[in-house]
Amino acid sequence: MVSRAPITATTRIVGVTGWPVAHSRSPLLHNLWLARHGIDALYAAFPIEPGNVSQTIRGLAAAGLVGLNVTVPHKLEALTVCDKVSEFAHRIRSVNTLRFDSGAILGDNTDGFGFIANLRAHGANPSGPALVLGAGGASRAIVAALQDQGAAVTITNRTRARADALAAEFPGTTVVAWSDAPVELSRFALLVNTTSAGMHGHPPLDFSLAAAAEDLAVADAVYVPRETMLLRQAAAQNLRIIPGLGMLLHQAARSFAFWFGVEPDVDQEVQDLIARDIPLR
Ligand code: ATR
Repeated sequence: MVSRAPITATTRIVGVTGWPVAHSRSPLLHNLWLARHGIDALYAAFPIEPGNVSQTIRGLAAAGLVGLNVTVPHKLEALTVCDKVSEFAHRIRSVNTLRFDSGAILGDNTDGFGFIANLRAHGANPSGPALVLGAGGASRAIVAALQDQGAAVTITNRTRARADALAAEFPGTTVVAWSDAPVELSRFALLVNTTSAGMHGHPPLDFSLAAAAEDLAVADAVYVPRETMLLRQAAAQNLRIIPGLGMLLHQAARSFAFWFGVEPDVDQEVQDLIARDIPLR
């Protein structure tokens, strides 16, 4: 581990905002990369209570921060404070990275990039037919990123109306009923869980993989725990698995590049540092 230079009056500040944000692993990760790259900046957490989001973000920009990561529940509101947003963030109506640039607030969303980079890192093909489970906030970036890779995307959700609403926003996607999805699994190359089921403190996802083709890859956006029941079920069937932790690391790397112009490595040391902080099961 590289140690950082002393914090002085010229040290710049970057961070993450959300509510709550105390659970965030981003400070660990970004401070390691800042030290490695010898950048005189520090990364901290800024909890912002709902109701004060736009005003506080503008204040932090005025105070000279480099930028912010934005997490739940502020990703939509963050979009509204931007002077300029990337086409991707605009399309999914969600910003997870802000850069404060001489008075202007620039917004991007690196979740889709992180998802695809993680698929690639695990040898999975991002352009095959994909079945996305869930129609909440976490699914939007994944649906859009897969479409950008040329994948035919099918959405399924426990509450059908939310799947239909999401599909209407992303032309070209189709919807299957939640009850039919497991039996239709054989026609997909990729299955992605974007629901909160399986997350620490939530019930496990109840979804049978019995009909999976042998080359199905199974990705989970959940990363607490690192090994969800869904991934264990997939591994027991010898399917390729893509744990969610890598998505977190790769979206972070892209945000770091947006601020500092250099893309940091997602290597073993980085993975171990974050994995140590998250239960395996
Ligand atoms: P987020 O913004 O984090 O995605 P969300 O908008 O509340 O959170 O969405 C949660 C997603 O997980 C939804 O798709 C939800 O399905 P419903 O729309 O039917 O509520 C899904 N979800 C949560 N628990 C689930 C469970 N036990 N089984 C299946 N889907 C579940």
